[in-house]
Amino acid sequence: RKVSLIGAPTDIGAGARGASMGPEAMRVAGLGATLEDHGVDVVDRGNLSGPSNPWQPPVAGYRHLPEVVAWNQSVHDAVYAELQDGRMPILLGGDHCLGIGSISAVARHCRDTGKKLRILWLDAHADFNTSTLTPSGNIHGMPVACLAGHGPQELIEIGGKVPAISPKWVRQIGIRSVDAGEKRFVHEQELEVFDMRYIDEMGMRHTMELALATLDANTHLHVSFDVDFLDPDIAPGVGTTVPGGPTYREAQLCMEMIADTGRMGSLDVMELNPALDVRNKTAELAVDLIESLFGKSTLMRK
Ligand code: ARG
Ligand code: MN
Ligand code: MN
Ligand code: MN
Repeated sequence: RKVSLIGAPTDIGAGARGASMGPEAMRVAGLGATLEDHGVDVVDRGNLSGPSNPWQPPVAGYRHLPEVVAWNQSVHDAVYAELQDGRMPILLGGDHCLGIGSISAVARHCRDTGKKLRILWLDAHADFNTSTLTPSGNIHGMPVACLAGHGPQELIEIGGKVPAISPKWVRQIGIRSVDAGEKRFVHEQELEVFDMRYIDEMGMRHTMELALATLDANTHLHVSFDVDFLDPDIAPGVGTTVPGGPTYREAQLCMEMIADTGRMGSLDVMELNPALDVRNKTAELAVDLIESLFGKSTLMRK
């Protein structure tokens, strides 16, 4: 397997500064060498560049829209180039607004190659706000809506087709914070959400069986991993913690079951904020979980 690491050092869509340091923290935690230990051919493409964070209030419901567009354009181009080259892109965020550039590129690649796309959105948040629904104007709360065609023209058209994806292709796992208007929109658009109550009642195993049920040999599975998916007790290094997330064991099982499908074709690791972390432990945990995503297991697998 061939993997390319792409750093996107920005917090342009977030409400706290610091996710711009995420890519380097993942490298310091040993992501590249760890994947190589699992037989992966890893190339680190280094960091993309883009506008700095002007730290301004929202304008017409969006904070930093022109800068968000510039970063997403460059993420789109970088992710698309890796896929065309036959390599699996791992996007190191950066805040989750960059999921627009990444997933629009994956969707474009799937259109080129006739693949079916499925998106696993591992997050505490649905990220399904629009300019009228958002309580913050932070665009990291809007990427899923933008990908589904609800957002500013410059953002929704980055992948060349509007909408880039259908909400039917998305499975959200770990959700436990959805704003009031966003909640109605999630319902109206029929997003498939496995929230924490569902995981509590049915267990992570059953949840992932359902979330992965429609994969087939022709499926490209994209995993968008917002590190705030994890319980803040084990993962404090994120800007928008929400209590009551998956435990270490639940998160490991989630990653292992994704690995077992053999269908993961691209990955985002988003919202890691080293300014809020404790001795880089959240980055180390993320590397540990990514190892499981790449097939690490205690015993030989049948
Ligand atoms: N729903 C909140 C908002 O729109 C928080 C979004 C958090 N998103 C994230 N990718 N961490 O501002
Ligand atoms: Mn491909
Ligand atoms: Mn989140
Ligand atoms: Mn998110």
